Amino acid sequence: MNESAKVWLDGSVVGAADARISVFDHGLLYGDGIFEGMRVYSGRVFRRADHLRRLAVSAKAVGLAFPDGVDLDGVIDDTVAAFGEDDAYIRLLVTRGEGPLSVDPTKCPRSRVICIVGEVSLYPPEKLAAGIDMVTVSLRRPRADVLEPRVKSLNYLNNALAILEARRAGADEALLLNEDGAVAEASGANVFTVREGAVATPLVTDGALEGVTRRTLLEICARDGIPAVERRMTRIDLLAADEVFLAGTGARMIPVRTLDGAPIGAPATSAGFGATSGSPPPVPDRPIYARLDAAYEERVRAVGVVSC
Ligand SMILES: Cc1ncc(COP(=O)(O)O)c(C=O)c1O
Repeated sequence: MNESAKVWLDGSVVGAADARISVFDHGLLYGDGIFEGMRVYSGRVFRRADHLRRLAVSAKAVGLAFPDGVDLDGVIDDTVAAFGEDDAYIRLLVTRGEGPLSVDPTKCPRSRVICIVGEVSLYPPEKLAAGIDMVTVSLRRPRADVLEPRVKSLNYLNNALAILEARRAGADEALLLNEDGAVAEASGANVFTVREGAVATPLVTDGALEGVTRRTLLEICARDGIPAVERRMTRIDLLAADEVFLAGTGARMIPVRTLDGAPIGAPATSAGFGATSGSPPPVPDRPIYARLDAAYEERVRAVGVVSC
């Protein structure tokens, strides 16, 4: 629980302990709603316009109208100001709103906006330095005609169950494949590989969210002359890579140390190692990760970059 968080709810900003909504909100009852995760760096919301655009696309995809009279920019600004820190995490939600105990969204007269501003840190610094252990989980990313992964909906059970499976296997993170066995993404971040100096990331049509961080990194690669492609990838692309990392607004950039127990960027041993057994592999050089991590940090704090 993020006790110092500030929350915009039903017209005013309150403390975390006072942020309460009806149990009849369909966001709770049915996971019916959408959300965005953004970050404030040095007092500015990084790529706010891109996040709000994606929220609008998600809203369109699920037929959700924003409530009349609510200015999302104003909501964000007021909540960020109330939190009062130069760096913060923003969680903006639009739920279907209150309705009867019936899944029918047309019975919900008014959607509800909630904005939470607080702190988030997914892994301790030592994990970030060493890299995380990831396992391929049995759960698949749903097809677009089942539950479109490109829609950032409140229906994150697929993601939650994926990370639960990973934790049960003693790992930190889950690698989700789609029904074809192509790599989609991690439970809450996009996947990147580096092989012989070239960056690759899975296709959004294979079940990856159109991540704002993903896009930022592809732009940095283009600017800095690092070859980078979006393409269909399978698990072997990760095992064959010199470097693997995850990227997302909450996660920022996280190096992956092992996949299914095999060390990334180092030869396998027959003894077994990784998430649950044996000694951890030495931390390898991750030159492209290090370069992109530094460039990303510079970019998020660059004056004037709110969207591009
Ligand atoms: C499932 C999933 N994939 C990828 C991402 C990364 O997207 P972004 O960089 O826009 O935060 C997120 C972020 O929340 C996510 O939930």
